[in-house]
Amino acid sequence: MPIQSICCLGAGYVGGPTMAMIAAKCPGIQVTVADLNEQRIAAWNSETLPVYEPGLDAVVASAIGRNLHFTTDIRAAIAAADLIFVSVGTPTKSYGIGAGRAADLRYIEAAARLIAEVSEGNKIIVEKSTIPVKTATAIKSILAANSPNGATFQVLSNPEFLAEGTAIQDLESPDRILIGGEATQEGQAAVEALVSVYENWIPRERILTTNLWSSELSKLVANAFLAQRISSINSISALCEATGADVDEVARAIGMDSRIGSKFLKASVGFGGSCFQKDILNLVYLCDTFNLPHVAEYWRQVVHLNDWQKSRFVEKIVRTLYNTVNGKRIAILGFAFKKDTNDTRESAAIQVCRDLLHERAHLAIYDPRVDATTIQQDLAAAGVDPALIITNVEICSEPYAAVTGAHALATLTEWDEFRSLDLPHIHSLMLKPAFVFDGRAVLCMEDLVAQGFEAFVIGKGA
Ligand code: UDX
Ligand code: ADP
Repeated sequence: MPIQSICCLGAGYVGGPTMAMIAAKCPGIQVTVADLNEQRIAAWNSETLPVYEPGLDAVVASAIGRNLHFTTDIRAAIAAADLIFVSVGTPTKSYGIGAGRAADLRYIEAAARLIAEVSEGNKIIVEKSTIPVKTATAIKSILAANSPNGATFQVLSNPEFLAEGTAIQDLESPDRILIGGEATQEGQAAVEALVSVYENWIPRERILTTNLWSSELSKLVANAFLAQRISSINSISALCEATGADVDEVARAIGMDSRIGSKFLKASVGFGGSCFQKDILNLVYLCDTFNLPHVAEYWRQVVHLNDWQKSRFVEKIVRTLYNTVNGKRIAILGFAFKKDTNDTRESAAIQVCRDLLHERAHLAIYDPRVDATTIQQDLAAAGVDPALIITNVEICSEPYAAVTGAHALATLTEWDEFRSLDLPHIHSLMLKPAFVFDGRAVLCMEDLVAQGFEAFVIGKGA
């Protein structure tokens, strides 16, 4: 039976854009995105979407009200659907067994229990959230044990590979779609049903089908490999600074080797985002669980290096500002974990700002897309005393306000607008010596020096 009605549990950064694209590309399928969070659903139904993503507004506008719906009526959405995507959050566990490493699957479990309770007939359940390997087994056993109406289920894994900031492009023309299912006849029929949804706009040869575990594991491994490349180049950024080499030149030189490739070699103050650290920690936990301590340790180093990169950036600032930032105004440009998103989850800016606040700096923070409340909440969640946030954090609505009277400026997100900042004007607004710490290499070292700044750019030797 072709899929006529899709429901997605979770209207977040993954569920919202992904379902909007499916609805836009498949006018014959009704797509309903359901979330517990009333505010989030109201925002999806408004002019101001809860997720900032270039091109998303137009995709949503093309389908909303036609075959794309956002609702808090989760039960009705489940009941009406042939196929249910589960795209709820899977944060790292902060308590108990596996704390700080394992994924917290309580939202997945709650979603599975609700699906079991409400469903009738045959339904296909699709894991979209990043999850540890073998979660499908857990979902299956919950569904099988809790279905009062005798519903039957096929569970598929269909990990999402979109990156924030380029989500629309990634959804429109993905490198590949991965679908894992069981080898049974029913399992394969479910796989084919989902394949036919994607075939509305994606060539069949880019749709890979595997068994469930390969699909689940591939998602973790893809993110681990990507994060590993960043930690590798970041480790080299420190060596470049020490030796006088330029990390961008090194990245270009090695990237032209087609076996290495040029992407994901941009040195930075550290990777962030909701996936990389979480997925590596999941992988580490998995390896520990299967008694593979050497493999676990290998991947753990990718996260350690990332933490070190963030702390050495803070140390660089403190040491350069004559070993104290106490009472000094530092302009922070960029708070999102990367450009073109309003998402701050695991952003390097959080740790950098926290550590500077613990040194008693005064921060003037500007980000073009992140709102003040999010910044304040992130800092509080990172352990900064709320009283210190009130006294020592100012949120600015433009970069020049942030740098006015500042001892130093630090760029922490690679927003395009930072590349064309008026450097002479900034220099005139800052205290002297005017220090710049560019954690994203968005500013040109030669220009900075020419304008009279004391400049540090990540990965550039003096
Ligand atoms: C990532 C994966 O790319 C995506 O496939 C998966 O579905 C989810 O996780 P995302 O976290 O949205 O996507 O963004 P990504 O572009 O991968 O960037 C992650 C972090 O790495 C950002 O903080 C970014 O600034 C940083 N980064 C990326 C670098 O520091 N250098 C690079 O060369 C690339
Ligand atoms: P992601 O980046 O993976 O999309 P988010 O945290 O942005 O993660 O979104 C996950 C969403 O899932 C949140 O909006 C949350 O309210 C929602 N959610 C959690 N549990 C359920 C559930 N049982 N049913 C529907 N939505 C849920």
